[in-house]
Amino acid sequence: MNEEILYLNGRFQALSEGRIHVEDRGFQLGDGVYEVIKVMNGTIIWLEDHLVRLKRSLEAIRLGGALADHPLETVLPQLVRRAGLVDGSIYVQVTRGLAPREFIFPQPPHPTVLAYTRPKQFPDADEIFRGVALHPVRDQRWGRCDIKSTNLLAPVLAKEEAWEAGAQEALFISPRGLVREGGSSNVLAVIDGVIRTHPLNNRILGGITRKHVLRLARGLGFAVDERAFTLRDITGGSAACSELFTASTTKDILPVVRIGDSVVGFGRPGPVTMAIVEAMREEQAVLAGMQPEALPDW
Ligand code: PDD
Repeated sequence: MNEEILYLNGRFQALSEGRIHVEDRGFQLGDGVYEVIKVMNGTIIWLEDHLVRLKRSLEAIRLGGALADHPLETVLPQLVRRAGLVDGSIYVQVTRGLAPREFIFPQPPHPTVLAYTRPKQFPDADEIFRGVALHPVRDQRWGRCDIKSTNLLAPVLAKEEAWEAGAQEALFISPRGLVREGGSSNVLAVIDGVIRTHPLNNRILGGITRKHVLRLARGLGFAVDERAFTLRDITGGSAACSELFTASTTKDILPVVRIGDSVVGFGRPGPVTMAIVEAMREEQAVLAGMQPEALPDW
């Protein structure tokens, strides 16, 4: 079936029929937050984590009550069923809603709450074994990157620049040279045998994939250190950085084989990355009610 179904302010309808007012604050002011959630074999992966983060984002923009009439923990599974979605994603967006254009909050607000599904293929063995290239850009975003805000102009420009430079993802670098995260992913490195990634703070989004990658990595016995590293650490030609990978809901885990003109490690996916890729693939298959043995062989 795979029809694209929209949940909009309490009603289900065809996605193509959905209408948002010109004066919705999400449209005019970017005054909203969002989530992207993976669906595998008709099962929503890590739903609880996404809903907790959505609530946190809403509270951070002082829109904590927006979901009072929208029980997403039941709405989203219903949406997936109605759409007949097998593999793909759910996009959820909540804005401060319709009001005459003013910066000051409307009182009371009438939030816009929407969610829709989209069938989608996740990276397959070919894409994973090929690996991706990153394009470093100066991080010009605001100081609350921990809020999953719909203000995405900086990543849109950064990712477009990366794409035009022949890379698949942008890499946000702080003014002091620290690696923060990707344009729409978290970034982890293996340095001196330790898995390193930027700590959770206002400079990065606390990725759900990142969280589970770190848990799985610890379970596999790898040392993990949530401590930032520099662009030089991963491009300086030092042997210390052997592997690098991105983590996100839309792309799972992707090995990074190049940053700008610098080759990472041996220029192919490394063993630590692949062990985590395997562990996550198996865990998600189990969550989705599949037999890990039923997964295609790589
Ligand atoms: N982006 N960092 C940023 C800036 C992101 O936009 C994302 C996700 C992540 C990874 O978070 P998670 O593992 O929870 O997906 C990190 C989504 C997928 C997007 O905007 O499409």
